[in-house]
Amino acid sequence: METTFTFTPGIDKAARYREFLPQFALLIEDEHEEISVLANTTAALKECFGWFWIGFYLVRGEQLVLGPFQGPTACYRIKHGRGVCGTAWAQGATQVVPDVELFPGHIACSSLSRSEIVVPLYNKEKQVCAVLDIDSEHLATFDDVDRQYLEEMCRMIENGIYR
Ligand code: SME
Repeated sequence: METTFTFTPGIDKAARYREFLPQFALLIEDEHEEISVLANTTAALKECFGWFWIGFYLVRGEQLVLGPFQGPTACYRIKHGRGVCGTAWAQGATQVVPDVELFPGHIACSSLSRSEIVVPLYNKEKQVCAVLDIDSEHLATFDDVDRQYLEEMCRMIENGIYR
């Protein structure tokens, strides 16, 4: 299977997400294997948005464990409540971090990472079971537009693999 993503040239970020989501829906509609869908999600986001690091951390007991990702090698395990990812897990809420150096306890997997967004994913018991972590080499890359559409994308993923 090959999925080719296409976009109208010159559109803004919100419009790009609106064109991305229906194409993403087709990519994941027939597959329900967690690791496979998460892996293709990171590849699709890398291809369509080009961010520095895109990956999932999976809840395994008391820790987050590194899952499928695109980008440089990263830390394997993050404790509950630690760093941006562990905070998103503990609070059950998306974290938008314009400057990682100003986030208390930020875990620097790469010194090149300057801003970050982390979106939690929920299982059918409504427990956080994974987080999507996206890092940028630039300050203030992510805002409420990213939060809105990435949360929408995570709901689509949950419906495919955690139901
Ligand atoms: N910065 C994250 C750790 C994961 S890496 O960025 C890939 C955090 O503070 O949770």
